Amino acid sequence: MSSLLKQLEPETLQEVAARLEDRPAEEILAWALRTYKDSIVLACSFGGPTGMVLLDMIMKMAPSTPVFYLDTEFLFPETHALIERVAQRYGFEPRAVRPELTADQQALQEGDRLWERDSDRCCEIRKVVPQRQALAGYGAWITGLRRDQASTRRSTPVVSWDQKFGLAKIAPLANWTEQQTWNYIVEHDVPTNALHNVGYPSIGCTHCTRPVETGEDARAGRWSGTAKTECGLHLAPRRDATQSPESAGNHA
Ligand code: ADX
Repeated sequence: MSSLLKQLEPETLQEVAARLEDRPAEEILAWALRTYKDSIVLACSFGGPTGMVLLDMIMKMAPSTPVFYLDTEFLFPETHALIERVAQRYGFEPRAVRPELTADQQALQEGDRLWERDSDRCCEIRKVVPQRQALAGYGAWITGLRRDQASTRRSTPVVSWDQKFGLAKIAPLANWTEQQTWNYIVEHDVPTNALHNVGYPSIGCTHCTRPVETGEDARAGRWSGTAKTECGLHLAPRRDATQSPESAGNHA
């Protein structure tokens, strides 16, 4: 990745966001790939349709863009199977980013079944800290967040300064709907996680994801039975994208 990149100020990103707000996702992505060149990375969970749409777009526009996934060690076999299929189809190797502690080491250090007792801490160890390491040195990251996914995501800007991780955050599909996402997937024959066919619209770790019933919210199966709705990768975003660390609400 480039060390010469001059980071754009939060205010500049805010102006860009306003300019690109109603533009097609491909145009937002093209701006980001052009601006950040070899200093941009896609974080793909291989657990939701939006990440797969972005992956497909990126593989067509700039296939050498690095892609990583946070392998918490608690991913579903279907998620690993998708990663293999996708790697073959597009001919690339996504980087697996793993926590410092294995699942066994975590059980020894933190006690058994941490996710049941303190899911925030489990997410911090297995997702947030590894994500910080994975993003270090980059100027921007690309995420599949959509505003219609959750109330915490309702004001997601298409381009913003990520206060939590200290780089630009690009959400080209922020204003897409679930329907638009699936239309793209069908039209472009994009591979998706097999669990979507058996009641899992949103897929995270095995211990903290269940299928949803008809009529339930798409994210109802994530950390079900608790008040938790976010793993901590995403600060509650504000459209102006210039929030200070003090004023930022963290929904982790
Ligand atoms: S989560 O915060 O609830 O887990 P969700 O599954 O909706 O997130 O994914 C939203 C975005 O967060 C993804 O598009 C991706 O950018 C990032 N993300 C979430 N989980 C992972 C993961 N395991 N690996 C890489 N990126 C992830």
